[in-house]
Amino acid sequence: MTTARLTIDPAFRVGPVRRRTFGSFVEHLGRSVYSGIHDPEHPTADADGFRKDVVEMVKELGVSTVRYPGGNFVSGYRWEDGVGPVEQRPRRLDLAWHSTEPNLVGTDEFMRWCAQAGVEPMMAVNLGTRGVQEALDLLEYCNVPGGTYWSDLRRANGAPEPYRVKMWCLGNEMDGPWQTGHKTPEEYGRLAAETARAMRQIQPDLELVACGSSQSSMPTFGEWERIVLTEAYEQVDYVSAHAYYWEEDGDLGSFLASAVDMDHFVASVAATADAVRARLKTDKRIHISFDEWNVWYQKRAESRPPSGDDWPVAPVLLEDRYNVADAVVVGNLLISLLRNSDRVHAASLAQLVNVIAPMMTEPGGRLWKQTTFHPFALTSNHAAGEVLQVALETPTYETARFGDAPLVDAAATWDEQTGELVAFVVNRSVTEEVRLEADLRSVPGLRVVEAVTLSNPDVYWSATADDDDSVAPRANDTAAIADGHLTATLPAVSWSMIRLAR
Ligand code: AHR
Repeated sequence: MTTARLTIDPAFRVGPVRRRTFGSFVEHLGRSVYSGIHDPEHPTADADGFRKDVVEMVKELGVSTVRYPGGNFVSGYRWEDGVGPVEQRPRRLDLAWHSTEPNLVGTDEFMRWCAQAGVEPMMAVNLGTRGVQEALDLLEYCNVPGGTYWSDLRRANGAPEPYRVKMWCLGNEMDGPWQTGHKTPEEYGRLAAETARAMRQIQPDLELVACGSSQSSMPTFGEWERIVLTEAYEQVDYVSAHAYYWEEDGDLGSFLASAVDMDHFVASVAATADAVRARLKTDKRIHISFDEWNVWYQKRAESRPPSGDDWPVAPVLLEDRYNVADAVVVGNLLISLLRNSDRVHAASLAQLVNVIAPMMTEPGGRLWKQTTFHPFALTSNHAAGEVLQVALETPTYETARFGDAPLVDAAATWDEQTGELVAFVVNRSVTEEVRLEADLRSVPGLRVVEAVTLSNPDVYWSATADDDDSVAPRANDTAAIADGHLTATLPAVSWSMIRLAR
């Protein structure tokens, strides 16, 4: 059997496990909001129409932040449409998804939903069709305690306390020609800088995210970040990164190595930001908000927005059904985010419910988990303390997309408080089991607390509302530790979590 060797030592650290790594995203898109988190007809609906069973599952998923209200949607959004008496709110065309936006859910409802779900809101402002003033108005509405037009309107709308939103995205994917109000990097960089400067006049300690590239394959990748950051470096804290992966033409081997691209993406953006830092002769470091990432089969019919005269409310859009291989890739992308947590300080799985999501709802009916739910929930719930630098000796395999890729990938976290060490490991081989040997002599006395593996002979198995459990992470009884050496068998196309403690 092929062997991969891992050495883990708490002396070698990347940085703290950041809770914001486990963020997600709710956009006004398809059934993400309407008949997703919001379904007034559902038996569990609260006074706002939010499904309580969804809220409970969001907690189980371990989501920290939720980005809102888009996405492409935000670039045409008038946030004022979504506040005040619901029956007086206008219906608008949503150009991004060729839909009708009924504005039944807006800022106040979303903030109440966040409070219930125990998540931190991460708001995006519209820098597509709008600009500095509307961003300031929304900030005033959300964060100023009272005594001004917008803050008093919030109070009148039932929220006496400010929402104190800390993290704000300055627009969305402004590098993409599909974006309403798409801009050149010079235009966007100036607008982002001016918006940030003005927002900080209201609240200096905001955490602001400038748009980076919407894929590493964008023709402007690298140059976009360089120009935007040259304009906005001192005004922002983060540059965003977005990446979606899918299996193309049956090339499972390349797909399983998608995290190679994510690592490259982070390294390239960090290097570009540091080059701007050197040129500007500043001490400040820009971090990355990887605020859209996932598997997304963009070419499938369900990702095609309506057209012509058809402008439906909450159509079925981007409702990808994920299989086991997709979940292994999601688990591997989380390994990459953890490994890069010195530079990636926030991330959002795009998205949360129904739309390329780990959770699915039936209107008025059942709620169920996709395969991708499991690696996210387990990583979020068990990665704690410090991310460790692991030394990995692994065979490689040839891929059409990424050249030679490591066959096994891994990350580890170490929680000094609880004495728990957790390894997250992926076997990318399409055909072969791999034996994992991990040298853990630096932490004497460890025993295996839990070892679980997600795999299946049919890697294309997908969950449904009728069966979302027959393939899920199961105990991996091969995991054993002796004389400070952990061994485990990793099935082909698998994701595993191994928890160890004294
Ligand atoms: O998450 C779906 C879409 O993907 C978002 O609206 C957009 O930002 C990205 O292109």
